[in-house]
Amino acid sequence: MTKLYPAWLSDAVFYQIYPPSFYDSNGDGIGDIKGIIARLDYLQWLGVNAIWLNPCFASPFRDGGYDISDYYRVAPRYGTNVDLRRLFRAAERRGIRVILDLVPGHTSVDHPWFRQSCRAQRNKYTDRYIWTDQGMDFRRHDLRTVNGYAERDGSYVTNFFWSQPALNYGFAKPTQLWQLPVTHPACQATRRELMKIMRYWLDAGAAGFRVDMASSIVKNDPGHRQTIAWWREVRAMLDAKYPQAMLISEWSNPAAALRAGFHSDFLLPWENPCHKLLLGARGPGGASDQPAGFLDRRGRGDITAFLDVYLDCLRQCRGRGFMSLMTGNHDLVRLRQGRTMAELEVIFAVLLTLPGIPFIYYGDEIGMKHLDLPNKEGGYFRTGARTPMQWDGSRNAGFSTAPKGKLYLPVDPAKNHPTVAGQQENSNSLLQHVRDLIALRRKHPALSGEGEFAPIYARKQACPFVYLRRKGRERFLVAINPANKPARARFDAKLLQSGKPLAPKKILVATGDQISIDMGPVSYAIMDLTDSTAGR
Ligand code: GLC
Ligand code: CA
Repeated sequence: MTKLYPAWLSDAVFYQIYPPSFYDSNGDGIGDIKGIIARLDYLQWLGVNAIWLNPCFASPFRDGGYDISDYYRVAPRYGTNVDLRRLFRAAERRGIRVILDLVPGHTSVDHPWFRQSCRAQRNKYTDRYIWTDQGMDFRRHDLRTVNGYAERDGSYVTNFFWSQPALNYGFAKPTQLWQLPVTHPACQATRRELMKIMRYWLDAGAAGFRVDMASSIVKNDPGHRQTIAWWREVRAMLDAKYPQAMLISEWSNPAAALRAGFHSDFLLPWENPCHKLLLGARGPGGASDQPAGFLDRRGRGDITAFLDVYLDCLRQCRGRGFMSLMTGNHDLVRLRQGRTMAELEVIFAVLLTLPGIPFIYYGDEIGMKHLDLPNKEGGYFRTGARTPMQWDGSRNAGFSTAPKGKLYLPVDPAKNHPTVAGQQENSNSLLQHVRDLIALRRKHPALSGEGEFAPIYARKQACPFVYLRRKGRERFLVAINPANKPARARFDAKLLQSGKPLAPKKILVATGDQISIDMGPVSYAIMDLTDSTAGR
């Protein structure tokens, strides 16, 4: 029987790096692969054991590199394929795995396949992309098309921006002649090409992939049945040839994604309410005017609303794999927006003590701000979350020696902006606490990915929130008060002593032999309840 997931995932803590903004090794103003290698010691010190790199392949960068023009080549501005192989090895020596970003659904319009596909004369790539049968196609489709672009008489389907034409994996239920079935040789060829790309980078030393828009592969696919079938083929290939490799999806539906063979699935705010109910909306327009999540000092959120969805997702994952919540990513308004450092610390305490596989977005561990910036490379509101990492007090916050005007994006201009060096010196900084939380999680199986999770005290529109994590003999109680005022939880002591697993769906509140926890404003507590005499 194949294993559910590689063993290293059970205590994995990921760190996401946006390559142009991490560290610039050659002073041209843009972060690069050698720069990431130069900062691996920092990541080892922080205690993470895995990195996810946003796309680092050849691209015209009309969407931050999610518009690839050559899957087999590192973007020259980031370095060479040799550099990337060196990164894999250098990270491995420090116990860190590196996963890449796989963009299976679309390429750049600059990709040679697409250029060929645009031609009037039939060729190998004519059906590599999805084309309608009219260049002047002003009919209504469920699919978005770009009209009037190509020499051939057809309009191409896009997945995101106009510059990202959809690769052709076929239609589960074709309704027009131009919609090819998934079994069509051209669609099968697309699939083989994707497998080849994956094998190329796995052979080079990549530890797996974060898969972009994983649910949108096969079109007109009710229940994603054909899409799921395709990812299962990919997973079978990994299990057979690369059993240590990991696949994580941008899908936001763990039940479907795990069935499709992904080891974990991101819970993104626009598709799944978990992130929003916990952290508030982080989409366009900033965070201040949007509904608050539970982790908010105004105490406006509702933990029971979060648990309703979260426990359901967790149940779907049990015995199948994981789900992933993140502090942020390259598509979201930074966590710091509208929040104090103390609030951030409480959030890290939650994300690093929940089950699943947590992801930390670079810079969130020091509380970097979301900047108000004009669009860069298709970032739009997301641009403000992609600014250079702030390392120290030197020029450009230690990110690059280039003149200010040549930087990929400006550094946070605030004089007192947070830096890694500044927070390493201060034992009470956010960074030090994040490091302690990561170490605690990785030391104790009860707190890591697979540990059981049971709410102990969670009431509608009230604080605090108390939960138990358990695995084997280990038991930890976590209490969270995000609100700006004191809070008290009272519950039955038996809840903590019961040897049986607690009913997962039921939020338990009891009278009788009570325990109460009193908490100050914006605070958290993690209590080790492991009874060292038990089980003897
Ligand atoms: C994903 C990426 C996002 C990109 C889009 C199109 O959502 O995270 O940054 O713009 O896919 O590839
Ligand atoms: Ca550089």
